Amino acid sequence: MTYILGIESSCDETAAAVVIDGKTIASSVIASQIDLHAQYGGVFPEVASRAHVEAISTVVDQAMREAGIPYATLDGIAVTQGPGLVGSLLVGINYAKGLAMSLNKPLMGINHLEGHVYSLWLTQPFREVEFPVVVLIVSGGHTELLLMRGHGQYERLGGTLDDAAGEAFDKVGRMLNLPFPGGPHIEKAGQNGNASAYAFPRAKRDDSYDFSFSGLKTAVMREVMVKPSGDKTDKKSQLRTDISVNDVAASFQEALVETLVIKTARAAKTYNATEVFLSGGVSANQRLRAMMKKETDLPVRYPPLNLCTDNAAMIAAVAHFRYGDKLKKGTMPTDWDMDVRTMWSLSDMR
Ligand code: KG4
Ligand code: ZN
Repeated sequence: MTYILGIESSCDETAAAVVIDGKTIASSVIASQIDLHAQYGGVFPEVASRAHVEAISTVVDQAMREAGIPYATLDGIAVTQGPGLVGSLLVGINYAKGLAMSLNKPLMGINHLEGHVYSLWLTQPFREVEFPVVVLIVSGGHTELLLMRGHGQYERLGGTLDDAAGEAFDKVGRMLNLPFPGGPHIEKAGQNGNASAYAFPRAKRDDSYDFSFSGLKTAVMREVMVKPSGDKTDKKSQLRTDISVNDVAASFQEALVETLVIKTARAAKTYNATEVFLSGGVSANQRLRAMMKKETDLPVRYPPLNLCTDNAAMIAAVAHFRYGDKLKKGTMPTDWDMDVRTMWSLSDMR
């Protein structure tokens, strides 16, 4: 059995987890900074790195305690190397380096997006995967459509040209004076709204697999704000009083989800995928899950809610699939010079 400690600090969650054989979560601890960032309506990078520094040792210790194994039992330490916020990533990487050095254990740098992909391998009960599969990663920072031909083999089909899907949810949530992060609150408001009340644009209905959500965001802004480009100091007075927040939320969600679903379903058909995988924070969205299932004949997989958003178990899971053999043989080299990779595409995996 391989025991891997995963550490994740790429954005606003400080997380640590112990995963056995890439599939069984022995512990998963997540310290969320949502309350800290809520006052800014988005993630404030400097505040995030400071909070990671304060939380990381407690979070890692707690993950080890909950897993019930001593540090000596670990086969390796996996840490998110990128993409993400530079200051936040540095905290995790440096902590992981120090720990790996003091314990004399292998250290592995992991791509955060690949983590979201492997959150599907932690989903219980696990069904074996027959490749190729089409994967849609939708989070606060990323919108990526991938063709996965095997473990660690990715072809990038497309992605967002501007805002990420989750970012669009968060920005529209802010316009509607909903709490941060906007995604879950828009989903909740939309449950009591009419999704065809507003005909918001479905952008980039072309042959590409790229997405664009800034036009949709602007269309919502035009509809709901009294003075879209006016004084930003008094946000509340800018929201029109004659609109239904529930209807706007439902209509916006419908437009965004439909764009994601149509392109993902087309990619799955074109590339003869056996399944569609959804992952990342936005894959928690029930409307996305339901519409995806309706639009394709293929099975649709998504992680349980606690694995949709950022966590460290998914980081440890990747390490197992990438480096498990080397860890078992004791031939895993440690890259002590490992540096942050703030921009790191999945089509650029070694
Ligand atoms: O994967 P994640 O935790 O962080 C990043 O790597 O970015 O995703 C967070 C994003 C936020 O933008 C949040 O609004 C969105 O996921 N989100 C949702 C839902 N739950 C979280 N968006 C739509 N519907 C949801 N239920
Ligand atoms: Zn993420």
